[in-house]
Amino acid sequence: MAFRELRPGIYSVGAIDWDRRLFDELIPLPDGTSYNSYLIKGSEKTVLLDTVDPTKEHELLANLEKLGVKNIDYVVSHHAEQDHSGAIPTILKNYPMAKVITNPKCKSMLIDLLLIPDDKFITVSDGETLSLGDKTLEFTYTPWVHWPETMSTFLKEEGILFSCDFFGSHLATSDLFVTEKPRAYESAKRYYAEIMMPFRTAIKKNLEKIINHNIKMIAPSHGPVYNEPEFIIDAYRDWISDQVKNEVIIAYVSMHGSTKKMVDYFVDALMERGITVKSFNLIKADIGELAKALVDAATLVVASPMVLVGSHPQVIYAAFLTNMLRPKLKFVSLIGSYGWGGKMVEQISGSLTNLNVEILDPVVIKGYPKEEDFKSLDRLADEILKKHKGVVRS
Ligand code: FEO
Repeated sequence: MAFRELRPGIYSVGAIDWDRRLFDELIPLPDGTSYNSYLIKGSEKTVLLDTVDPTKEHELLANLEKLGVKNIDYVVSHHAEQDHSGAIPTILKNYPMAKVITNPKCKSMLIDLLLIPDDKFITVSDGETLSLGDKTLEFTYTPWVHWPETMSTFLKEEGILFSCDFFGSHLATSDLFVTEKPRAYESAKRYYAEIMMPFRTAIKKNLEKIINHNIKMIAPSHGPVYNEPEFIIDAYRDWISDQVKNEVIIAYVSMHGSTKKMVDYFVDALMERGITVKSFNLIKADIGELAKALVDAATLVVASPMVLVGSHPQVIYAAFLTNMLRPKLKFVSLIGSYGWGGKMVEQISGSLTNLNVEILDPVVIKGYPKEEDFKSLDRLADEILKKHKGVVRS
């Protein structure tokens, strides 16, 4: 990847990973990603903000060479996860005078994860500043976005917030700045859902903390730079708010068509009541899209056939993942079909212990759905409508 200039003396020197399709061996990346690293040349000191994934460190080194960087005084590490810190040892080898600036918690993690020697570090406290000569960095602790050690750096003279994962998006693009807002919005929302949503409370606090700065630009460590910061700040305000939308997410598996028949009927029943429905066949669905849908929805309905004595394993996986991601759902229910019995309801409701939700009466039937089963689905749709009227702002 070629380096790009954000402002005079400030460069994006990281790498685009067009081909990566999985992160943490868990998260699908349909649009690839980037590992953004930024170089700031001050009149007296030169600093590198984060590095790149180790698989791309040759691209970072090539960019520094193209820029004629002979010396790096400091490497700021905002986050110990290896997609940003993994090339620090190589940078320290190539620029032996460089010191790593970070907070004590991140230092400890970098020593554990990358075996960086203790004497290579300078630790900074929350709010501490560092002069590069004509430019000043201010370090702000922003814990739990999304690890406990995460922090951000504010470049005072230019009003640029370097936020690391905070506000990021897994989007490979040659555009330095956001150009296609709808695409950037969807990517950032998906990223929020997959990475940040479990830490909604911490994000609320950190958002209030960072907007005390006069931010003119946000440069995250994944995806394009926001030169209109209110675009992503407003989006985050919406996602982390307690407001839910008049939406039902249906996550289902059907083996022989009975559960699918129930899902199809139920989707129509909800639509007839003016409720937005997003339905995911878990055998085919992109789990990241499911996560994204869960950001706003008021209700999740899980639909499963009974397999042996419990839910289909793909449904259990989706429920487990939902529990991990802690969306702001208000209601959950279950529909499905069984042949001879089982503990599907107890199993699913027992796997959602992190969620502060009301479980609405499930509709679990024997065999193929019959007239009275459709009536039960209508009753559940009525109940969801009633519940939504109590929590959804019109
Ligand atoms: Fe992009 Fe948490 O690393």
